[in-house]
Amino acid sequence: MSENYDRFFTLAEDILRHPAFQRQKAYRHHKASLFEHSILVAYSAHRVARRLKLDEKSVVRGALLHDFFLYDWHVEGRRVRKPLFKKHGFTHARRAMENADFYFDLNPREKDIILKHMFPLNWRPPRYLESWIVNFVDSIVTIKEYFRRSKKEHNPLLQHLHERLKKESRTRE
Ligand SMILES: [Fe+2]
Ligand SMILES: [Fe+2]
Repeated sequence: MSENYDRFFTLAEDILRHPAFQRQKAYRHHKASLFEHSILVAYSAHRVARRLKLDEKSVVRGALLHDFFLYDWHVEGRRVRKPLFKKHGFTHARRAMENADFYFDLNPREKDIILKHMFPLNWRPPRYLESWIVNFVDSIVTIKEYFRRSKKEHNPLLQHLHERLKKESRTRE
């Protein structure tokens, strides 16, 4: 387990530490925060990608940023009425890609992962196997979050990352 955590942390660290990524702690996603949701999707997708010997770095980075739209869609949805195709479900993948592209240096595979993660709601299918994996894992994680009982569920991965980010920033000072 800890080897998986280590490898994931190495690939994810710069994004996890970025203040814009940290902002997602304030945005809800079903019974989790977007920060939490993105990490859980990235970690599970990473394990699949590793097993299949795919581009694990792009999977981690693309998955971490797949919902990087930076607003609370629960609030936004209630505030303004929009036609169906302008609603969050249809538009947020592009918004996330544009934000991610602004803050980070993305390769074509990472962009595709973000942009196509809502297929078939967004009709253009993923171009890479890595994008299909994130698309699939995102659906599973979202369903699990939707049905979980409480907002505060202990998760060893999140706990591990939290402690590591704290400890390693202390040693850097
Ligand atoms: Fe999404
Ligand atoms: Fe998602």
